[in-house]
Amino acid sequence: MRNINEHTITEAVLRGMAGCESERLKEVMSALVRHLHDFAREVKLSEAEWEAGIRFLTATGQKCDDKRQEFILLSDTLGLSTLVVAQNHPVSTQATEATVFGPFYVEGAPQLPQGADISGGAAGEPLFVRATVHGPKGEAVADATVNVWQADSEGLYDVQRSALESAQGRALFRTDAQGRLDFRSKLPVPYPIPTDGPVGGMLKALERHPWRPAHVHFMIEAPDYQTLITHVFRDGDTYLDSDAVYGVRSSLVGDFRAHPAGSQAPDGSTAAQAFYTLDFDFVLERASG
Ligand SMILES: [Fe+2]
Repeated sequence: MRNINEHTITEAVLRGMAGCESERLKEVMSALVRHLHDFAREVKLSEAEWEAGIRFLTATGQKCDDKRQEFILLSDTLGLSTLVVAQNHPVSTQATEATVFGPFYVEGAPQLPQGADISGGAAGEPLFVRATVHGPKGEAVADATVNVWQADSEGLYDVQRSALESAQGRALFRTDAQGRLDFRSKLPVPYPIPTDGPVGGMLKALERHPWRPAHVHFMIEAPDYQTLITHVFRDGDTYLDSDAVYGVRSSLVGDFRAHPAGSQAPDGSTAAQAFYTLDFDFVLERASG
């Protein structure tokens, strides 16, 4: 294998993978090499641009730690996350749509009882969430594991606040026998994705805004059902049609209803301050096979 040139390099690399025993790995890597080479040809990538790309990816990796996932942010802002979610979860007429996972989920959220307040003392307008989890035939999904996470009223997740020692806006619940889940929180607000890293630099260079419409994340798991990873977005948000990570689905826009001070809250108390309610029904797909 000598005298490789720009016309023969792709075939040479593909030939080198011919002996790979995993057909899937061979398929994925062959396509990656073909598209990567075609990309470089299409834009006639310069050496300086190639070096800038290497520096960018290096910085992206270096920005990652156990609480910061810059590569997910990169995937999200390039639309790759939405593409992968969409092609693996075709829109169903019955089930709740999936959307991007995002970079702010962390394992080990505190398990809280029904009705608990997940805000952990964070400021914001009170929100009462009343959710149900059903299967495709309308059956209640009891004892489903529901992870909930959201940003606070300043648009930050708890993992973005290094001074915090306990969870805020993050909890793990189990649905009751009727598939219900009630909890308290604070009204989510729109937030910019973190812009202090290479992905923020990329958005700025591309003159793209970093904002996401207000939302609450849910991950719902139950035996015999497909895991649902999704958000519920706040209706009326400025950024519903320009989400920086392309995650909005019309079916996931919830009715965050405002109630004035003095109204009866869902927990039976008379609310001293104005509050919001959100009622949302999640429908899971049956696991196949
Ligand atoms: Fe989020």
